[in-house]
Amino acid sequence: MEKIIVEGGHLLQGTVRVNGAKNSAVALLPAAILADSTVTIDGLPNISDVNTLNSILEDIGAKIVRDSNQKVHIDPSSIVSIPIPNGKVKKLRASYYFMGAMLGKFKRAAIGLPGGCYLGPRPIDQHIKGFEALGAKVTNEKGAIYLHAEKLKGARIYLDVVSVGATINIMLAAVLAEGKTTIENAAKEPEIIDVATLLTNMGAKIKGVGTDIIRIEGVKNLNGCRHTIIPDRIEAGTYVIAAAAQGKEVIIDNVIPEHLESLLAKLREMGVSIEQSDEQLLITTKKNLQSVDIKTLVYPGFPTDLQQPFTSLLTKAEGTSVVTDTIYAARLKHIDELRRMNAKIKVEGGSAIISGPIQLEGALVKASDLRAGASLVIAGLMANGMTEITGVEHIERGYENMTEKLVNLGARIRRETMSDEEVKQLDTKI
Ligand code: EPU
Repeated sequence: MEKIIVEGGHLLQGTVRVNGAKNSAVALLPAAILADSTVTIDGLPNISDVNTLNSILEDIGAKIVRDSNQKVHIDPSSIVSIPIPNGKVKKLRASYYFMGAMLGKFKRAAIGLPGGCYLGPRPIDQHIKGFEALGAKVTNEKGAIYLHAEKLKGARIYLDVVSVGATINIMLAAVLAEGKTTIENAAKEPEIIDVATLLTNMGAKIKGVGTDIIRIEGVKNLNGCRHTIIPDRIEAGTYVIAAAAQGKEVIIDNVIPEHLESLLAKLREMGVSIEQSDEQLLITTKKNLQSVDIKTLVYPGFPTDLQQPFTSLLTKAEGTSVVTDTIYAARLKHIDELRRMNAKIKVEGGSAIISGPIQLEGALVKASDLRAGASLVIAGLMANGMTEITGVEHIERGYENMTEKLVNLGARIRRETMSDEEVKQLDTKI
């Protein structure tokens, strides 16, 4: 087991390049099942979620060739519809995309309930509602979901909750269904457009992606194709926030600025200077940042995945800021850890109220989930002295080479193997 050690107070300067989007990648890989021939996906981030999905694909018979770190060729022609075992499925949330993809291709699937970051309850009732509307019988037996359909037939599906996962999963199941499917109240995240682009290149007929009504006309079969993943707006946003918190002048490269409008607007309100071109952002921060309130919303609102990193930045702002997560109300595990670092944060009525400016102090802290990890790394960069962060495995699920990228920007940050004694202490804390 490893921990991250950060010596705070060093200014960041230089360029950081953003990888392909994790939340696209984790849907694009299962989507490859739907094709009859090889699908090539380029721009894959080298993160543990991607490795886990590739390994599940191999378990069910896919032939996978990795060209480079980023490019993978998936030949799905020998995939068989066998039950997907619990172990790997539990490692990540996105394993639920195997339900839609296997159901679409084989009209049957058996898969353990997905895991992933604990952010409070994360039901999948809307996914199931969609599969059932398409004609599948869905049962839950001993922690595994069984899906079966004689045939899938297009349907009109209204999502009661705007859900990224349900929108993508229903698209995956519907592209090979007979007839027309309409998804109403669909999510509009850029990752959904990316998945629809892959499916369209495979031969699917999909209209309206990026609006709240998606129309799909089923086709008989889908072919292999090549696809390049969009840049990761959440990874980009994380480095933008790090630059605003502790940067002198930082260029974020390989970014689509339009995907980050809500974040950039809030940073400008705080007094951060941002220059943008087609694929880059230049972040120059000022000393006296002003407090702002944020409320997370579905895209194009402020992303829940950037709420935790943004909270760390707000400790530095003058005045009181209020952070409310309307997507995952319980996504507040980073708050106790930031308090250990001297942050003044109260939680009231589900909102975090941050009083600043405060000088954070180094401490021993634990990342409880992926974005909490990012928030603690940013806090460590801002803090006086040394911060030690455990729970690194969460960070590895979504950020490729985070410590190396920050070192290149001038941060003093490293990973170290934990001693047996430290691992024991960590276990007793849990
Ligand atoms: N929801 C339901 N029923 C459902 C599905 C969702 O009530 O059937 C609720 C959820 O509990 C939540 C809201 O709807 O309150 C939105 O959930 P959504 O389904 O959109 O989330 P998700 O698909 O499970 C993806 C990302 C998350 C990101 C959210 C919101 C992936 C693999 N995960 O999750 O990413 O926070 O969308 O944008 O794409 C992360 O990257 O750190 C991460 C957690």
